[in-house]
Amino acid sequence: MGFKEQVKARARLAVKRIVLPEGDEPRTVQAAAILAAEKIAEPVLLGDPARIQAVAAETGADIAGIECIDPKASPKAAEYAKTLYELRKAKGVTEEAAAQLVLDPMYFGIMMVKCGDADGLVSGAVHTTGDMLRPALQIIKTRPGIKVVSSSFLMDCPNKALGHNGLLVYSDCVVCPCPTAEELAQIAVSAAETARVLCGIEEPKVALLSFSTKGSARHDLVNKVQEATRLAHELAPDLALDGELQFDAAIVPEIGASKAKGSPVAGHANVLVFPDLQAGNIGYKITQRIGGAEAFAVLQGLAKPCNDLSRGCSVDDIVTTVAATALQALI
Ligand code: ACO
Repeated sequence: MGFKEQVKARARLAVKRIVLPEGDEPRTVQAAAILAAEKIAEPVLLGDPARIQAVAAETGADIAGIECIDPKASPKAAEYAKTLYELRKAKGVTEEAAAQLVLDPMYFGIMMVKCGDADGLVSGAVHTTGDMLRPALQIIKTRPGIKVVSSSFLMDCPNKALGHNGLLVYSDCVVCPCPTAEELAQIAVSAAETARVLCGIEEPKVALLSFSTKGSARHDLVNKVQEATRLAHELAPDLALDGELQFDAAIVPEIGASKAKGSPVAGHANVLVFPDLQAGNIGYKITQRIGGAEAFAVLQGLAKPCNDLSRGCSVDDIVTTVAATALQALI
């Protein structure tokens, strides 16, 4: 069974309710029908029910029994507006603005998750990353002990000798442009948790990457990764984690053994933490485009799971992302 199929199979056991704010988007409607039919999760579609039914008819999707909620007609809207106002009044959100915001399916969906009426949210077939991320950061906030929301790319590589049966976790490739050492340490710990929860890697091996291995180069950028490694050890003393390591020292056993002798991680890393967003974003795209790996992204560090899709996503991408969100809701 491939990685995506494993995620779906495990999500069936989680039985989670996941809200889809882009409820009248054709791929999303088709994905909801598959999620319900295959009992991968309980989808909730947001939008005008008549419009959602019309899209279902056009695409041949059977959405009988799937809950569709129109934020503009929902009795929950007033309660969500009140909660949103309380949460954001210190940031200048007025009661009128909150009442208006919750009519937007994205905010309504985020408030459903915040208030426990859904276990997680998936969007992005239409909206940009920032459209979903901003309200999630403002309202859902971070998990206890974690101050920074970040992302992991799960890279399923054709070379099954790499990482965990070919699976490598890359972090952060989407969110934090220029993390501090403290943020980098938290990203490392969050990525290890993603590896456990989504990839079934029981003992993640985390490498904090740099252009230097164990002091081979001197630079402020290297110092930052060294400091992040020290802080990550403090945050998660039992985690197999090491830095700073060059990419080859992290994943090639012979190079790891010669450049970082005695390291618990070097040569066998399955979680790779990039020093900043430029490195991470470029790194995952090289692995995908030149290395032929299949890439799959999730957010991590939010108090409740919300995930973003690419606007070019397929129906199956939506189904898999919902399944991953259901698994993250178990944390
Ligand atoms: N973790 C936790 N909280 C955060 C984070 C974070 N990483 N970033 C911002 N916040 C909080 C802020 O503290 C603030 O909270 P407050 O309003 O309660 O005080 C709130 O979120 C909004 O912060 P802003 O700084 O106003 O948010 P901003 O407008 O900068 O947007 C965003 C944040 C969208 C995450 C921004 O950092 C960003 O654009 N990142 C890059 C996204 C991107 O383009 N990625 C690459 C493309 S995706 C791809 O290739 C697959």
